[in-house]
Amino acid sequence: MIHQIGTAVSLLVDGQEVTVPGGTSVMQAAAGTGIEIPKLCATDSLDAFGSCRVCLVEIEGRKGYPASCTTEVEEGMVVHTQSDRLDGLRRNVVELYVSDHPLDCINCSANGDCELQDTAKALGVESSRYGMDGMNHQDAQKDTSNPYFTFDPSQCIVCYRCVRACDDIQGTYALSVDGRGFASRIIAGQSDSFMDSDCVSCGACVDHCPTEALIENNIIEHGQPERSVVTTCAYCGVGCSLVAELKGDQVLRMTPDKQGLANEGHACIKGRFAFGYATHKDRITRPMIREDIDDPWREVSWDEAFRYTADRLRSIQREYGRDSIGGITSSRCTNEETFLVQKMIRAAFGNNNVDTCARVCHSPTGYGLKTTLGESAGTQAFNSVAHADVVMVMGANPSDAHPVFASRLKHRLRQGAKLIVVDPRRIELVNSPHTRADHHLAVRPGGNVAFINAMAHVVVTEGLEADDFIALRCEDEAYRHWRKFISNEQNSPEVTERTTGIPASQLRAAARLFATAPNAAIYYGLGVSEHSQGSTAVMGIANLAMVTGNLGREGVGVNPLRGQNNVQGACDMGSFPHELPGYRHVSDTSVRALFENEWNVQLLNEPGLRIPNMFDAAISGHFKGLYVQGEDLAQSDPNTQHVEHALKSLECLVVQDLFLNETARFAHVFLPGSSFLEKNGTYTNAERRISMVRKAIEPLAGMEDWEVTMALSNALGYPMNYSHPSEIMDEIARLTPTFTGVSYEKLERLGSIQWPCNEDAPEGTPTMHVGEFVRGKGYFAITGFVPTEERTTRRFPLLLTTGRILSQYNVGAQTRRTANSEFYSEDVLEIHPFDAEERGISQDDWCGVSSRAGNTVLRAVISESIQPGVVYTTFHFPSSGANVVTTDNSDWATNCPEYKVTAVQVSHVSEPSQWQKEYGAFARRQEELLDKARVSD
Ligand code: SF4
Ligand code: SF4
Ligand code: SF4
Ligand code: FES
Repeated sequence: MIHQIGTAVSLLVDGQEVTVPGGTSVMQAAAGTGIEIPKLCATDSLDAFGSCRVCLVEIEGRKGYPASCTTEVEEGMVVHTQSDRLDGLRRNVVELYVSDHPLDCINCSANGDCELQDTAKALGVESSRYGMDGMNHQDAQKDTSNPYFTFDPSQCIVCYRCVRACDDIQGTYALSVDGRGFASRIIAGQSDSFMDSDCVSCGACVDHCPTEALIENNIIEHGQPERSVVTTCAYCGVGCSLVAELKGDQVLRMTPDKQGLANEGHACIKGRFAFGYATHKDRITRPMIREDIDDPWREVSWDEAFRYTADRLRSIQREYGRDSIGGITSSRCTNEETFLVQKMIRAAFGNNNVDTCARVCHSPTGYGLKTTLGESAGTQAFNSVAHADVVMVMGANPSDAHPVFASRLKHRLRQGAKLIVVDPRRIELVNSPHTRADHHLAVRPGGNVAFINAMAHVVVTEGLEADDFIALRCEDEAYRHWRKFISNEQNSPEVTERTTGIPASQLRAAARLFATAPNAAIYYGLGVSEHSQGSTAVMGIANLAMVTGNLGREGVGVNPLRGQNNVQGACDMGSFPHELPGYRHVSDTSVRALFENEWNVQLLNEPGLRIPNMFDAAISGHFKGLYVQGEDLAQSDPNTQHVEHALKSLECLVVQDLFLNETARFAHVFLPGSSFLEKNGTYTNAERRISMVRKAIEPLAGMEDWEVTMALSNALGYPMNYSHPSEIMDEIARLTPTFTGVSYEKLERLGSIQWPCNEDAPEGTPTMHVGEFVRGKGYFAITGFVPTEERTTRRFPLLLTTGRILSQYNVGAQTRRTANSEFYSEDVLEIHPFDAEERGISQDDWCGVSSRAGNTVLRAVISESIQPGVVYTTFHFPSSGANVVTTDNSDWATNCPEYKVTAVQVSHVSEPSQWQKEYGAFARRQEELLDKARVSD
């Protein structure tokens, strides 16, 4: 792709006049007039390379036959794309390729989807004058190491597309070309197998390969797809648009959608390849009930399941009161499904006992951004990062958790943007191929607020504030008050150094870099929010953005990287006990009246219970019934033993999910869920982008999740009657000011929409707070640092922090049921060599991790990525019990758990912890009880 810059240029292509921007290639200019010049190494998504020489043209006044993909247009140029001479030259090139290519198109997996085949056909090449008996690569060994795709060098035409895709789009630089001329060959790493190289299985090379050299194993096994459906990835908050390609009812592959605005034709290993869980044998596709959790499950009809569930929940309410039941909405489900669950709880249960998993991830983002800026969401579109000059990534690891955004970010860094990484670990971004963080500030867990205050302190005390922006856009009195607070020496880098662990000089340098950049952007993750001062840290981030004037235009902003695919949507749809859809408080009479009128029911004006309150109330005997849709509380919430105690205390636990997850082992009713491939609806990603989810296959259990909620509500006596999710979206639009202009018709037309979408912004809002903040003037909140109560002691001298890995996702329920487990098959404990040596721990040893909450045992990985005094693990496998160790400490404003700071001791052990033994026995027993239901079928 030649970059289009400069003024318009007019030229003649095969006699047709065409005007294009300067910098356009001759090939692109020709395409604009409908003339397709044959090509092999060029594609519209990669910079032109000019290696194949198939795209030759004649240009009047120029000698020879230039490659049209690498030749820029010039004013008055006269181009001929067709002539006998050109035909002959092109045929000759293609015949050379064909002479070293198996001529067995009929039996080739790429038959019908091969650009060499297409080009040869277009040029009338059926065989090669050079014969097939010369030197060739036909005996080259295939690389089948990757579970999802195969590399067959005998099919390779060395067009470099894969290398360029890996470099330019993915940013991993795993591939290169070894040798010269005829001996050239593509290698992964230092001639390793793909699995042994740095390859992260994003699939970009496979997408760009014009032949069968790189191809999905599913296509080799099942042949070419017959139909496709454009939908949205169901993993992370990037919300990539994907094309599900099917043969009959079988999804053969998911490819990134070039038109998708969140991902622009890229994906990661999860969305691209890890979709097999949807049809895994563990899926439960029939409703099941049981009286007690020690009873075998009994499969029943949907009708019986709804009757049974409604009877049990109503009888609990009769005995223990209206507020003794509640429900959890799912951040994995669609907006429409989430909206219906909270509606059912408020209207049919008759209370506000509704919460969602955002409680345990980004609830501080909602609180912090609403307080300071007036809206509980990120401020930018992902492509805004292309305009950033300095990027600060704080408490986030995009390479693993938001990989497609990480690729965008790396692209910008390669163009020269500066990077500040604030993280206790040396994450991949700190030193990735061809990019390096200008500052890695290895903040100690628990030190975020002291850090962000110190950054602002430097800005204010060194006179680096954006005075005009502050005067125009922010509340004057609050600013003056805050300025006095932040200028206090207590907030200086020198004083906070002991808390943050960051050398003052380094922090000062980073603050100056950030404050003096034309455009500086902040991207942050759960490493900010999951702290006892998570909300304070978010407000500190907003303060820093305001004081440096970095809000309200492209290239700047405050950008929470959301974890789950629809966690933004779940929050927007009113999943919190104190807020109706659109973040409006339940105590607001006029808002309630709007909903009461539409829903024909009276609503409570008091907030309901948050998840931790539900657990406490269950243990104390006041809360008896819980409906959980698509959420695995028993694995994802902190202090597992406390959660298990709460779940065991319930008289009726209803779980709706794809699998018998950890929470469902404590359930009395199991309602089968439908995967993203089996439903229609919308997800909202981290940039507020609402995208369509489209049904590719029929629901395995016969019902989409919204239909299940509707039927349950009807069984409870509160009527719901929708015939399609678009009707639910119409209701959302009627009731939610930021969604007023959203409809399925508009989503189909525009592809996706970033809310707010209403009369003021009929096609959505890519950048928020332009001109003024949603709350009017920006509010500088006081962000005093209060150390967490979770302190290290002689008994618990290390700090445990947790995170994610690229190939696994959250509780792992989906990715563990795919070949992604070949990349990461257990949670491990990363420990610094000093701490390991002090404890006599060697690589791969079992080590006991004990905290004030509990004990577990993990295998040790000795790593200098982690600083001394800090240990790190992931939580993708239930038996690892990472959350047995995490505590009940939580954010002061929102109760978001403090996952990122747990004081622990680590010691060398030889057997699993007591919890792990009990967990294993309970899990086996529950599998047996499930098997009985299946046998009785
Ligand atoms: S799959 Fe992605 S990371 Fe791996 S070699 Fe291909 S482009 Fe590079
Ligand atoms: S593997 Fe495919 S994309 Fe890569 S050089 Fe060979 S033919 Fe081109
Ligand atoms: S980056 Fe996120 S949304 Fe995109 S494919 Fe990967 S998991 Fe799916
Ligand atoms: S397409 Fe232009 S040189 Fe290959």
